[in-house]
Amino acid sequence: MSEKINAIETNLLTKRFGNFTAVKQVSFYVPQGEIFGLLGPNGAGKTTTIRMLCGIMLPSEGQGHVLGYDIAKKPEEIKKRIGYMSQKFSLYNDLTPPENLAFYASVYAVPREGRSRRVAELLEMAGLGEHKRELTRNLSGAWRQRLALACAIVHKPPMLFLDEATAGVDPVSRREFWDLIYRMAGEGVSVLATTHYMDEAEYCNTIGMMYQGEMIALASPDSLRESLPGTLVQLDCDRPIAAEKVLDELEGVIDTAVHGAQIHVSLEAPELLAKVEAALAEAGLIVSQAELIQPSLEDVFIHMVEKSRLEANHAGPESDQGA
Ligand SMILES: Nc1ncnc2c1ncn2[C@@H]1O[C@H](COP(=O)(O)OP(=O)(O)OP(=O)(O)O)[C@@H](O)[C@H]1O
Ligand SMILES: [Mg+2]
Repeated sequence: MSEKINAIETNLLTKRFGNFTAVKQVSFYVPQGEIFGLLGPNGAGKTTTIRMLCGIMLPSEGQGHVLGYDIAKKPEEIKKRIGYMSQKFSLYNDLTPPENLAFYASVYAVPREGRSRRVAELLEMAGLGEHKRELTRNLSGAWRQRLALACAIVHKPPMLFLDEATAGVDPVSRREFWDLIYRMAGEGVSVLATTHYMDEAEYCNTIGMMYQGEMIALASPDSLRESLPGTLVQLDCDRPIAAEKVLDELEGVIDTAVHGAQIHVSLEAPELLAKVEAALAEAGLIVSQAELIQPSLEDVFIHMVEKSRLEANHAGPESDQGA
């Protein structure tokens, strides 16, 4: 036995539905107390991965351990010990927040004598005190989300799964929600979260980028940014789509991606910027601003997806975890 068990370990985890492979040979680990973010577009296989790890769905191939328990052999042990806030979490609309919490406390078999203290603690943690007499149906999305989180951790699980926990919530409330998650991780809770929001990925110790069932990148946010080849330039251009066409033909341009009115261009060397501006001017396109920028995780993601499309015939994730 190792001294410290990883909260999650998977080895070539795979899930097939008929002929379709939703999760393909995914391997990663999450050390205890860390936050692991699974990023990827709709249908990438994030929820399917979580469902296997939570012991809800058996893998077709490969192995996984959560809190030291085999997901295929000991799913019941796992279910008892984890918190799971699913994409479609259910709260009882005609109950108040403390009533919802008390309900989940009984579902998770929180000892009866400690329940009311735990409910009070969670109302306080989630900042729900002033809403405690309202019916859940009348709470705003952000408050419902916080209540759902509180319900998911009523039994103090050492491992928490969050599947798009903040979808549709405003940026300030999302930040506050993540502050709660961060605090929990600080107390030793391990977290696996999926999200579509790249800013949320910044909260994660390690990020796994999934695309079409495969893990196409796996590293810390900083390592992912550093892994992007070349120099990134942001151009403000009057016709970004037309500009992209010109740039894609230009030697020394590694990648281009349109972000609204701007275009991000990855160049083999910063000196190539002059050549880029000249090519665009020649095509009659007006560049109002050009600057060197630090890549965002979105840039990394777009690059990795492109790369995996190009390398479609070669299998394997991009890099080792924790690089
Ligand atoms: N029970 C199922 N039977 C058949 N196909 C399924 C099943 N569950 C999921 N899939 C398919 O597997 C793929 C991955 O789905 P999954 O829900 O894991 O994606 P996701 O990354 O969570 O997407 P989203 O961001 O939309 O939540 C999708 O193409 C989906 O249609
Ligand atoms: Mg999903």
